[in-house]
Amino acid sequence: MKTKLFITGSSGFIGFHVAKRYLDKGYIVHGLDSMNNFYDIKLKKSRLKILKRYKNFSFTKGNLENQTILNNSLNKFKPSLIIHLAAQAGVRYSIKNPKVYLNSNITGTFHIIEAARKFKIKHLIIGSSSSVYGANKKFPFREIDKTDNQISFYAATKKSTENLAHSYSSLWKTPITVLRFFTVYGPWGRPDMAYFKFTKNILSGRKIDIYNKGKMYRDYTYIDDIVDGIFKLTNKIPKLNSLKKYKNDSLSHVAPIRILNIGNTEKILLSDFINTLEKELGKKAIKKFLPMQKGDVYSTLSDTKLLTRITGYKPKTKYKEGIKKFLNWYLNYYN
Ligand SMILES: NC(=O)c1ccc[n+]([C@@H]2O[C@H](COP(=O)([O-])OP(=O)(O)OC[C@H]3O[C@@H](n4cnc5c(N)ncnc54)[C@H](O)[C@@H]3O)[C@@H](O)[C@H]2O)c1
Repeated sequence: MKTKLFITGSSGFIGFHVAKRYLDKGYIVHGLDSMNNFYDIKLKKSRLKILKRYKNFSFTKGNLENQTILNNSLNKFKPSLIIHLAAQAGVRYSIKNPKVYLNSNITGTFHIIEAARKFKIKHLIIGSSSSVYGANKKFPFREIDKTDNQISFYAATKKSTENLAHSYSSLWKTPITVLRFFTVYGPWGRPDMAYFKFTKNILSGRKIDIYNKGKMYRDYTYIDDIVDGIFKLTNKIPKLNSLKKYKNDSLSHVAPIRILNIGNTEKILLSDFINTLEKELGKKAIKKFLPMQKGDVYSTLSDTKLLTRITGYKPKTKYKEGIKKFLNWYLNYYN
C-alpha cells in the first residue's frame, strides 16, 4: 500500500518542494497551509497549483492554531507520516510581531505533536532552524552542542518547539526527528529573504540594504539538497532505548527523538554572495550599508556528519551553481 504523508506548510517554499518530491516518488500527500500573506500570496498560489496537478495530492486551507480543522483533516486522511514545515519564519519580522510567532510556532506545533500522539503517527519530522544556535561561538555547530543562547524571538520559539517535542516524545513515545535548516535558498524561494530581495532590487535599480558591511557568514543550503536529506530520513525512525549507534548521536536517552542539522557545511561571506549575484545578473547593486541588525547572528556553519552517518546525505550544490539555478527560475517566473 502507498504511504500517506501529511505535510504542513505545503504552499511554503520548503513544504512545496518536499511535497513535490514525495508525490514524484509515488506517495499520497495531503497538504495543509493557511495561505497567509506574510509574503506575496501569488507565489503560494502558484506552488499550490503545481501540487494540485498530481492526482495523489489533496489540500486543506487551514490554520494550525485551529485544532479542529487540523484534527478533522488528519482523521479523514489517516497518514502514517507527518512533516511539519508550517511556521512563521524570519528573524527580523519576529522583532516587530512576536505574538504571531508564539501562535504559529508554539501553539501550532503543540497541536501537531498532540495530533501525532493521538493518531499514532509512525514518524513526525519537524522543521527547526540553525538560529537556535544563537550566539554560540564554537563552529561548526553540532547537534550535541548546548543551545541556550537564542538572540531572536523567532529562534526562541524554534528552540521551544524542540523542547515541547522532546517532552511529548518522552511521555508518549512519539518518534520524532527535528531538523535544523541552514539558510535555505533556491527556485520558488521566499521573497522576504535577503538573496531574493537583492535580486529584485538589483534588477529594478533600487538600493539594497547590507548589514554589517556584508561581513556576515551563512551556510547557504540549496533546496534540492534539503529535500534529498529529508527524503532519505523517511524510514530512519528514532527508536527508544536503542544503543547510540552513531558517533556524536543526538538521540535522546529517554525518548525516541533525534535532532539533526541539515546544511551545506560551507560558510559564505555575504559580500561574496552579493558579488556572485551581481556577476550573474550583469548589473551592479546600489549598496546601502547599515549596522548589524538586532537578532541577527554573525555566522552559521553546520556540521552534518550525523545526518551523513545515518542517511549518506551529501550536499551537492555549490552556492555559485545554486545562485544560477535560482536566477534562472526567477527570471522565468517574473517575466
Ligand atoms: N527557508 C529557510 O532558510 C529556513 C531556515 C531555517 C528554518 N526554516 C524553517 O523551515 C520551515 C519552512 O520554512 P519556509 O522557508 O518554507 O517558509 P514559508 O514561509 O515559505 O513556508 C511556511 C508556510 O507555512 C504556512 N503557515 C505559516 N503559519 C501557519 C499556520 N499557523 N498554520 C498553517 N499554515 C501556516 C505559510 O502560509 C507558508 O506557506 C519553517 O519551520 C521555517 O521556520 C526555514
